[in-house]
Amino acid sequence: MSLPLPVYDLVGVGFGPSNLALAIALTEHNESADEPVTAHFLERQPCFGWHRGMLIEDATMQVSFLKDLATMRNPTSGFSFLAYLHAKDRLVDFINHKNLFPLRIEFHDYFEWAAAKVDDLVSYDQTVTAVEPVTGADGTVVHFDVRTRTAAGEEAVFRARNLAVGTGLRPNLPDGVTVSDRIWHNSELLHRVRDIDEDTASRFVVIGAGQSAAEVTAFLHERFPRAEVCSVFARYGYSPSDDSAFANRIFDPEAVDAFYEAPERMKRRLMDYHGNTNYSAVDLDLIDELYRRMYREKVRGAQRLRMFNMSRPVELAETADGVRATIESLTNGERTVLEADVAVYSTGYLPADPTALLGALAGYCRRDEFDRLRVTRDYRLDTGPEVTGGIYLQGGTEHSHGITSSLLSNTAIRVGEILDSVLDRRAAANRLPEYAASGTLTP
Ligand code: FDA
Repeated sequence: MSLPLPVYDLVGVGFGPSNLALAIALTEHNESADEPVTAHFLERQPCFGWHRGMLIEDATMQVSFLKDLATMRNPTSGFSFLAYLHAKDRLVDFINHKNLFPLRIEFHDYFEWAAAKVDDLVSYDQTVTAVEPVTGADGTVVHFDVRTRTAAGEEAVFRARNLAVGTGLRPNLPDGVTVSDRIWHNSELLHRVRDIDEDTASRFVVIGAGQSAAEVTAFLHERFPRAEVCSVFARYGYSPSDDSAFANRIFDPEAVDAFYEAPERMKRRLMDYHGNTNYSAVDLDLIDELYRRMYREKVRGAQRLRMFNMSRPVELAETADGVRATIESLTNGERTVLEADVAVYSTGYLPADPTALLGALAGYCRRDEFDRLRVTRDYRLDTGPEVTGGIYLQGGTEHSHGITSSLLSNTAIRVGEILDSVLDRRAAANRLPEYAASGTLTP
């Protein structure tokens, strides 16, 4: 007879910065808790990694280091970026730097350092393949069985009272475009670029006008000093991201309350007004740098950084040794054919759909009049009373909670709110006599 599965208070699906921050909040809570919260996190990568394909050496964070994994929730946390700097003996050097926005590679190192400190709470090389409901005697869903598979094909099941789904973003490609050795999404940049010969590469086409597109353009231009880099986008020019102080308040914890309570019409207006704090917008320093390079080449009469503005790719065909991109002007329809080594789509990301993993549980999830998932203020999917545990979303809640949904800005606060919700609901359940008898909660 097989032993019953242990039941965790919480199982986390994915272990990026969001669920890492939750693991930290749990760890700090458990240090002084009478009744610890038991948790385990499952990550498909073989070790911790945060957008490794875009760890361009000189790329910087788009968020203040103070919005790290813990500080906004617990300014005295031992998991803060400052604690990391101290541990690495770089605190004073960083202070001298007078910089709020560390290098992305440094923040990655910080994430790895923090992940190592909660290593006992996570299993890597565990791709979550499905989540199945476990029903009690009365038919309500009392637990979730999280099924995983390793790269070697080994399967396992983790049973949970609550889930935290933090599976992040997935690359967005236009309809009909599929990635190949010659057609990339920027998320794979550093993995794929190693295979391109610096001496023979002659041209790259980069599609998009956001931060990633500008970073890829600058990176390729520098890395391949003999190649032409053609940037293709529909705008007239790159637009700067608005990181001015008042606009930046859209990332404040209070902004989540305001957004959550706002009527749909106002939600849409807020996203329209402040989308340029994050979407299709580029750091002004990087815009200036690209312009400087283009102008310098103009002066020298040898232009290899080219902008195809107000343009779009209309055809993309793989050839024997590269790709043929046909670029169409959106003003006069004129077409230019570019033979290139590689085309890089920097066309953004989309949140991963949590219901794809939820299987039969998706049927319990209530939807709004636009067929979007209903999410309560504590980031819980509204599953109705038939499901007693919480399915918490870290990401994919932009429609309900606003622009911080997939960003780092509010992560430390968000995970504190999720933890509070798990604790409140556990305390409420413990007060119910029927819970004492059955171990299940009927709210
Ligand atoms: P993230 O995508 O980081 O992690 C999700 C994890 O889940 C991954 O590790 C993935 O492998 C895992 N996973 C997915 N499916 C799984 C499954 N079925 N089973 C197991 N594991 C699974 N934001 C910001 O505020 N400031 C910034 O400077 C930047 N910079 C930035 C640069 C780049 C290049 C990108 C692409 C994005 C940013 N962002 C950002 C936004 C970004 O979304 C944010 O930094 C975090 O990655 C969000 O963390 P998450 O943990 O939610 O997702």
